Amino acid sequence: MSTPASRLPVPLPAPRPRSRRRLGPVDRLLVEAQRALDTVFGEPAASRPNPAGDLPQAELDAAQRRHAAGLMRINHVGEVCAQGLYYGQAAVAREESTRGHLLEAAQEETDHLAWCAERLRELDSRPSLFNPLWYGGSYALGVLAGLRGDGWNLGFVVETERQVEAHLDEHLDSLPEGDARSREILRQMKIDEARHADNAELAGARVLPQPIPALMAAASKFMKTVAYRL
Ligand SMILES: [Fe+2]
Ligand SMILES: [Fe+2]
Repeated sequence: MSTPASRLPVPLPAPRPRSRRRLGPVDRLLVEAQRALDTVFGEPAASRPNPAGDLPQAELDAAQRRHAAGLMRINHVGEVCAQGLYYGQAAVAREESTRGHLLEAAQEETDHLAWCAERLRELDSRPSLFNPLWYGGSYALGVLAGLRGDGWNLGFVVETERQVEAHLDEHLDSLPEGDARSREILRQMKIDEARHADNAELAGARVLPQPIPALMAAASKFMKTVAYRL
């Protein structure tokens, strides 16, 4: 006896592969805004332990404490700028590999940001009042660099990180003799920044022509002068 056609099992349609939801322009804007707010007003959490570990707090007089706080405020602003730059650059990176490279470096910069913020609190000080401006300016710069193409994008990383390395050396010399906690944080940051530059070079960075490096150095000198006090 044959089964009537209407009672034959109907094959279910094959499930559609679940695609990862692509973010629309509004979602992306919200993600970027959230990152900016977290960086500027939030308390970013480090994914690695603070390099200062349980080193003792130094006995610093008022002037030494003020000087150490000024230097650590500069470094904190530098990390706010790094977040802005990297996220701006990642937003317009062409290759997925370049974007991945930038976001990975930004994750390590978040550790630096958290360590510098912690040290500022230990020194009874505070971050720069102009952090929203530093972030906004750096983000815009990152987008501009990124729009020129991935070679430029990575070249910008190399130049930024090399300049940061040099300035960390200056700070390591200038910190009060006994401030081992700040010093250990800067030492680890210097190691990380050198790696960020090396990785960007390997990933195909182009060498930025003058006057770009000179302009970047001038901008960072201005930032350092302001951030030391405010
Ligand atoms: Fe950093
Ligand atoms: Fe870096």
